[in-house]
Amino acid sequence: MTIVELLREAQHFLEAYSSSPRLDAELLLATELDVDRSYLFSRPETPVSAAQQQNFLAALAARRQGAPLAYLLGYQGFWTLELEVGPGVLVPRPETELLIEQALLLPIKPDARVLDLGTGSGAIALALASERPAWQVDAVDVCAEALQFAARNRERYGCDNVQLVQSSWFDDLDATRYDLIVSNPPYIAEADPHLNGPGVASEPLLALCSGPDGLDAIRAIIRQARQFLRAGGYLLLEHGYDQADSIATLFTQSAFERLIQFSDLAGQPRLSGAQWPGGRDADHGIS
Ligand SMILES: C[S@@+](CC[C@H](N)C(=O)[O-])C[C@H]1O[C@@H](n2cnc3c(N)ncnc32)[C@H](O)[C@@H]1O
Repeated sequence: MTIVELLREAQHFLEAYSSSPRLDAELLLATELDVDRSYLFSRPETPVSAAQQQNFLAALAARRQGAPLAYLLGYQGFWTLELEVGPGVLVPRPETELLIEQALLLPIKPDARVLDLGTGSGAIALALASERPAWQVDAVDVCAEALQFAARNRERYGCDNVQLVQSSWFDDLDATRYDLIVSNPPYIAEADPHLNGPGVASEPLLALCSGPDGLDAIRAIIRQARQFLRAGGYLLLEHGYDQADSIATLFTQSAFERLIQFSDLAGQPRLSGAQWPGGRDADHGIS
């Protein structure tokens, strides 16, 4: 079969199973043929070998069964980076770029020490480190498999200013004080039906869900962050659309100041931050 014939059949095959059947098919075929997507349009009559057709059909079948497209492609775009991902690590989401945008706007010093808790593929740590080469970023995850993806991604982008650490949140960190702590922690409630949804069901539960109300990880991070922040340092957390009020309460209970919230493009509050009191930077705090 030719490229154009395969794509037509593949689109039909995925129609009821993906919100972007044509795009999925094009990306999967381009990956199998090891060509740019534009090649598919410029050389539609090119015949595809039997072996490549077989691999492509296997990928389509996996997609139809709910495998995340990024797992099948082996990569996911995030910020300016293309990150290696696969089973065992969360696929970075576009909404997490809101955290990058806001972190880069904070008034922190040029040689800041930054901590990314639950780094997964390294998405947040590497995006920040590539934008701010003078920052020193510690990227923590409890999951060894995730850290292997992060290590390969760090290597790919030569981010020597990122150090990977295996630790459950702050447990194995030394007494370093950070100017900024960021995290996209697991925040889905254990019984949330979204956990069985397409794509998500293939991703590690450890990366997604956190106790009965989804707030266990966030509670632990807010409670302990104060011991790891410099005076005037910031904590910035991604969270679920309905968790902003609970998180504001947790920040206040832990004596954080200058609370802020940011909404995603759909207008949902998905990012909250606060400043640890004191320090010169407090006068230029987020507002
Ligand atoms: C929602 S994912 C975020 C991954 C990545 N930061 C991103 O935005 O794509 C949460 C991450 O937290 C990690 N994690 C879960 N529990 C942890 C713990 N106790 N200590 C450290 N990391 C943990 C998971 O392994 C996962 O990589």
